[in-house]
Amino acid sequence: MAIISVINGPNLNMLGTREPGIYGAQTLADIENNLAQLAEQHGHELLFYQSNAEHDLVNTVQQSKQNGVAVILLNPAALTHTSVALRDAMLASDTPFIELHLSNVHARESFRQHSYFSDIAKGVICGFGPKSYELALLAALPLIENTPRG
Ligand code: DQA
Repeated sequence: MAIISVINGPNLNMLGTREPGIYGAQTLADIENNLAQLAEQHGHELLFYQSNAEHDLVNTVQQSKQNGVAVILLNPAALTHTSVALRDAMLASDTPFIELHLSNVHARESFRQHSYFSDIAKGVICGFGPKSYELALLAALPLIENTPRG
C-alpha cells in the first residue's frame, strides 16, 4: 500500500459548472470518488487537496515527505503557467510527480503552452477530461513499485 497525493490548483473546485465545454460536467468530488475506487482496486490510498491559494499548495507539497507520499498527481491549473514557487516546492519535495490537465493545453491559448512543471515531471497527461486523472493514476503505479520506501 502506498499513499498517492492528488493536488489541484486554483478554480478546480469549480469543476462541474466552470466552462463545462472545456472541462466537462463532472465535479471535483465526482472525479475524486472515481479515483479513490480505482486506487483501492490497486491497493493504494489517496490524499486529496485543492486550494485556490499558491502558498497553501506550496505548504502541502512541502509536507509530502513527512506524510509518506510516494507519488503526487498534480494539476497546477493556472499556476502551471506562472508559478516558480510551486515548481521549487515540487523540486524540494523530492517526490516523483505526474503533471495532468483536463484540457489539451497545447490546443488552447499560447500562454497555456508553457508549463513550469513539464520538464521536472515524470510525465504529462492532458486533454482527456476527467479521464486524465485516471490515466495519471495508472501511470503512477509503476513509479510506486520503483520507489524505495522509508
Ligand atoms: C487546466 C489548464 C490550465 O491552463 C487552466 O488554467 C486550468 C485547468 C486543465 O486541467 O485543463 O485551470 O490545468
